[in-house]
Amino acid sequence: MSRFSGISRLAMGVGMTCLALSAAQANTMQTQSPSVEKESFGQLPDGRKVEAYHLRNGHGIDMKVITYGGIITSLRTPDAEGEWADVVLGFDNLADYRSEAYRQSNPYFGALIGRYGNRIAEGRFTLDGTTHELATNDGANHLHGGERGFDKRLWTAAPFENDSEVGVELTYVSEDGEEGYPGRLETHVTYTLTADDEVIIDYHATTDKATPVNLTQHSYFNLAGEGSGSIVDHRMMLNADAFTPVDDTLIPTGELRDVADTPFDFREATPIGARIGADNTQLAYGQGYDHNFVLMRDATAEDELVLAARVEAPDSGRVLEIATSEPGVQFYSGNFLDGTLIGKQGKAYEKRSGFALETQHFPDSPNQAAFPSTILEPGETYQSRTVWRFSTQTPTP
Ligand code: BGC
Repeated sequence: MSRFSGISRLAMGVGMTCLALSAAQANTMQTQSPSVEKESFGQLPDGRKVEAYHLRNGHGIDMKVITYGGIITSLRTPDAEGEWADVVLGFDNLADYRSEAYRQSNPYFGALIGRYGNRIAEGRFTLDGTTHELATNDGANHLHGGERGFDKRLWTAAPFENDSEVGVELTYVSEDGEEGYPGRLETHVTYTLTADDEVIIDYHATTDKATPVNLTQHSYFNLAGEGSGSIVDHRMMLNADAFTPVDDTLIPTGELRDVADTPFDFREATPIGARIGADNTQLAYGQGYDHNFVLMRDATAEDELVLAARVEAPDSGRVLEIATSEPGVQFYSGNFLDGTLIGKQGKAYEKRSGFALETQHFPDSPNQAAFPSTILEPGETYQSRTVWRFSTQTPTP
């Protein structure tokens, strides 16, 4: 039986700390009607038009999502002093997401990832006695759905708004055999921006043949503002007492390793950079953090929301909390950014100028019988939710 047979109740806001707004922030938080506006974001070489949906909540937090790759291109939030900044890496035009330099570097800025977030060893898995060969686009391995994953597909969009929330539902149908995967997969991803300064990401999918599914969102955050330098000073808590160590091609060995007494222990908030340079084989393989963490659930049932991470930017006081129904989160400290891509403000995205926290099932699960299953069967519905909550706290010098 796979994990999708019982659809669980997904409560919102579970485990999130409710932080009081600072006076400065409260003063600058406008009260306005939430809105969603459609704009043009250019067109693909075959003539299909790419749209941008501009979501705003009553506090003025605004987020742009494009139908190409379901990419979040910008997300503006206030800091503790009421100064606004765009806290995600990306571009303000389609050409930059499709340039040769971007393809070479392949950072997946802000994109929806499918069918499978992270790696599948040697692009191969066996299901019900049949071996499937996937595109290999990361050395010998399959990464983030292949040569042309969901991040490079055009989605259709349906915006919505009510008194307190705005959002957009994106749909993409992945045909049987796409990138080597079996089954026609119909995928819906909904982004909702709430009155509580949350971005809720809901994923649903159905298939007509058994297939692996592991969808995620690949935003890179810099809570001091994109283009403002390194994120190694951000303090991060990860609610994980184990991680999945990898081989030198970043494929999990199958072990769940205790984080105690290792640089992977983020159970107490710790600066990202505090131990990133430690003499540690796992950090050497990832050139920093690029690992799946196993979330602690305690009494929280499988598939219900649990707090995964809390990240604070010391100078700006911005805080991001992430809750998820998933069992894992890939913490990637932006190690492969190398300054070749120039962001929205004209600044180069250097190594570690953003971090990603990709809520997910574990990498290479189709080849790891002991990991939670990622196989979706016909008749089941894949369902997953992740919530990002933005707030502020008093800056710490
Ligand atoms: C992976 C990294 C990869 C990055 C960009 C992350 O999810 O874990 O290894 O370099 O995505 O492709």
